[in-house]
Amino acid sequence: MLLESLKPEVISILKKNELSVTDRLQMICELLKGQVSYYDWVGFYFRNGDKEELKLRTFAGLETDHEIIPFGKGICGQVAVSNENFVVPDVQAQDNYIACSISVKSEIVIPLFKDGENIGQIDIDSDTTDPFTEKDERFLEFVNQEVAKIL
Ligand code: SME
Repeated sequence: MLLESLKPEVISILKKNELSVTDRLQMICELLKGQVSYYDWVGFYFRNGDKEELKLRTFAGLETDHEIIPFGKGICGQVAVSNENFVVPDVQAQDNYIACSISVKSEIVIPLFKDGENIGQIDIDSDTTDPFTEKDERFLEFVNQEVAKIL
């Protein structure tokens, strides 16, 4: 299936040692947004130094006002403290949600661990309601595990 077929490309991008880590993460964002029809915004947030907040590092999709997200706020901020995947089939049903664009219907956030520590996350917005399955979770966990190797 499509997600499985993207794994070699993810690995090949991350192996491009001549590029900066940020450039490689940018390419991953563009690959995923470009290849998966229901991935409409793809970004990586990381902990901002020692602060209790996330900072957007790279993204593909529309500009967002939410480059900094405090821990606990929104779906992203909740994942920063829960250390667990958060799949939101319908964002309107969430109280603690930060809207980036009115077109967004659903969201998936998967924490990124380095040496067992939750240091960031991949965040994907979709303009489709309830598109994410366990296959997306497993695939995005794979992406994050591969990314962690170059951090
Ligand atoms: N919706 C996110 C904010 C980030 S944007 O999706 C880019 C949230 O609730 O944390």
